[in-house]
Amino acid sequence: IRRSCLIGTGSALPARRVSNAELAETIDTSDEWIQERTGIGARHLAGEGETTATLAADAAKKAIEAAGITAADISVIVLATATPDQTFPSSASKVQDLIGAKNAFAFDVAAVCSGFLYAMATADALLKTPAGAPANGRQCALVIGSETFSRILDWEDRGTCVLFGDGAGAVILEARDFPAGEMAAAPGVIASRLHTDGAHNELLYVDGGPSTTGTVGKLRMKGREVFRHAVTNLADVLREVMEEAGIAADQLDWVVPHQANARILDATAKKLGLPAEKVVKTVGEHANTSAASVPLALDVAVRDGRIQPGQLVMLEAMGGGFTWGACLLRL
Ligand code: ACO
Repeated sequence: IRRSCLIGTGSALPARRVSNAELAETIDTSDEWIQERTGIGARHLAGEGETTATLAADAAKKAIEAAGITAADISVIVLATATPDQTFPSSASKVQDLIGAKNAFAFDVAAVCSGFLYAMATADALLKTPAGAPANGRQCALVIGSETFSRILDWEDRGTCVLFGDGAGAVILEARDFPAGEMAAAPGVIASRLHTDGAHNELLYVDGGPSTTGTVGKLRMKGREVFRHAVTNLADVLREVMEEAGIAADQLDWVVPHQANARILDATAKKLGLPAEKVVKTVGEHANTSAASVPLALDVAVRDGRIQPGQLVMLEAMGGGFTWGACLLRL
């Protein structure tokens, strides 16, 4: 039986780190307000020459190195982003060129903060029924979440601009076959669930686009309503995936959630009876990096030794659309 196994992770942050105190020099806000409402202490903001595709390529190179493969071994690149370098071509195409993954086909997926979950489910499906030829005899997917939200923020709107940061995270998945009798302990993606409810566009959206205003637009959000939907939807989809996999919350070794806001993370964990120590939290240093947040947090926890081979890890996210999803995998 085929599984998409996670064999490497990587991440990249822009060079410039901006603390709450630094933001408060130009925006009518304070470190106390931001910390108390969101748990955010700092974020990284892209500077000149740093784009969604360059950050993605940096994260990808680290994931490739960690996986012990070469770029030529990759047969598909799926990049989740809501802030592509250009309307077209896809940022994934640019990454393919930047890293020299000449055997890969590449495309972007757009599901905002849930984008990485959508990209994982897509890559998992493509590895099980490959649409491309094997690359160097392997079936490897490069799955990336990369964003430069700083470029679509309204820096005059203190209710949103303090919440987001830029960055990228990447993983390598490889298709491997296991005997039916060994599936209980086999690594790889065990179950994924994705959802969309398009009826709430006005709660979280960008007020521009190529086919409407002909502009890039700025992010708009009704924070309080988004918060309410997020906690309910995330708890539902987590239960759904655990039921599908036949596991209980106390069997999870780690939950790596989308890092929107510490209060959403705490409220969701509480609703499911998950101890806070099992939830990887990086929002304090990265803020909300949209589609990049899950793979960024995953890479941090893999590299600092918290997440170990063989462990059961749940990824989850909710974002504009609304879109939400979860993915259970064994490392
Ligand atoms: N600094 C200081 N004061 C502020 C700031 C700021 N940065 N932003 C807003 N305020 C003020 C408001 O003006 C308001 O003042 P008023 O009462 O005098 O009018 C007061 O703070 C309260 O504002 P609210 O918006 O009601 O604050 P709330 O307690 O709801 O917190 C927050 C706002 C943090 C955005 C919260 O609603 C939240 O966490 N929402 C979830 C949003 C989120 O995480 N979205 C991302 C998930 S989806 C995705 O990732 C794309």
